[in-house]
Amino acid sequence: MLTVRGLTKTYATADGDFQALKGIDFDVPQGGFYTLLGESGCGKSTTLRCVAGLEEPDGGSIVIAGQVVTDIERGTQLPAFERDIGLVFQSYAIWPHMDVFGNVAYPLRVQRPRLAAGDIKARVMDALRLVGMESFAGRQATKLSGGQQQRVAFARALVRRPKLLLLDEPLSNLDAKLREQMRFELQELISRTGVTTLYVTHDQSEALAMSDRVAVMSAGRIVQSGAPREVYGRPTNRTVADFLGSANFLRGRVVEAHDGVATVALAGGASTLHVPSRAALAAGTTVDVIFRPEDVTTRLDPSDGAIECVLERVVFQGGSSECQLRLGSTALRSVVHPSLAARPGDRAWIVLQPERCILFAAD
Ligand SMILES: Nc1ncnc2c1ncn2[C@@H]1O[C@H](COP(=O)(O)OP(=O)(O)OP(=O)(O)O)[C@@H](O)[C@H]1O
Ligand SMILES: [Mg+2]
Repeated sequence: MLTVRGLTKTYATADGDFQALKGIDFDVPQGGFYTLLGESGCGKSTTLRCVAGLEEPDGGSIVIAGQVVTDIERGTQLPAFERDIGLVFQSYAIWPHMDVFGNVAYPLRVQRPRLAAGDIKARVMDALRLVGMESFAGRQATKLSGGQQQRVAFARALVRRPKLLLLDEPLSNLDAKLREQMRFELQELISRTGVTTLYVTHDQSEALAMSDRVAVMSAGRIVQSGAPREVYGRPTNRTVADFLGSANFLRGRVVEAHDGVATVALAGGASTLHVPSRAALAAGTTVDVIFRPEDVTTRLDPSDGAIECVLERVVFQGGSSECQLRLGSTALRSVVHPSLAARPGDRAWIVLQPERCILFAAD
């Protein structure tokens, strides 16, 4: 439904040229929910705006539902209104001088050939029903809560039944609780309509919860893409491991490696681990052992194979607590049950799950 190839984009700035996109390639199948995730400034919105036709790339091609909408080499660049898309941005961008009905009807009223008034009404009410706002049709758009305004924006984006829905941080203006509720609502809405979706966010939990596939971007490139569990559990590089969730890094050295398992001696003689490794790592290689806080068991008594640390802080987070630990000069985090009775300065012992660890050769 969407194919993006070789997308590049350079902005002219006061400090000279800035390459915002350095060659972006991806595909979204029909009905797919594809998310571009990454830190501020990595090029997510630029990519989405190029797909929308709001920005012209310097190079590359974009195909939406079989129609070539951008092909720089051939000089093709369709304007936004000729692309079969619906758009929602972070700011609600609903028109204050119109009521809810008028806002949702707008894309249909500018459509050529003209639609009959009765058809417009039926389509608008369908779209409002879809987002649970049909009883608000006559309400002034400004007299709505943030969540309701965003529902109207979704209805307006869907009213033309586009082949592709483009969403740029559509939930980030909402407060935390509403954001989480809207996440599920939006997911429901998208699966009910079956519309193919390209979603942009810097919120990793949003990306992991909602998407079929996540592409992690960094400095104008996609550095890894895959199903949420795959990208989270098997990051292929440090940037991804670091950006998605919090990751612990421990230095070690490969003692021996065979049959896809590396024996790693942790720095300072803290412990030896047998870690499954896809990469061929020669004996003697210095590595970083990477693992998630939720994959660490923390106890206040020593046990076999446990690594002794100093507990620096326990941060209560409601359903769980986070332990901030120190092993030599390395800071580590672990997740514990909030009932764990520990004080700063206590000694603590952590146990890693080698099969949940990932090895990267240290630079
Ligand atoms: N019109 C512009 N002129 C010059 N530079 C721009 C322009 N638009 C974006 N940039 C730069 O291009 C880079 C990518 O911007 P983009 O808006 O795509 O980032 P983003 O990933 O969406 O970030 P955020 O999460 O903050 O929205 C940034 O460094 C930004 O400063
Ligand atoms: Mg952006």
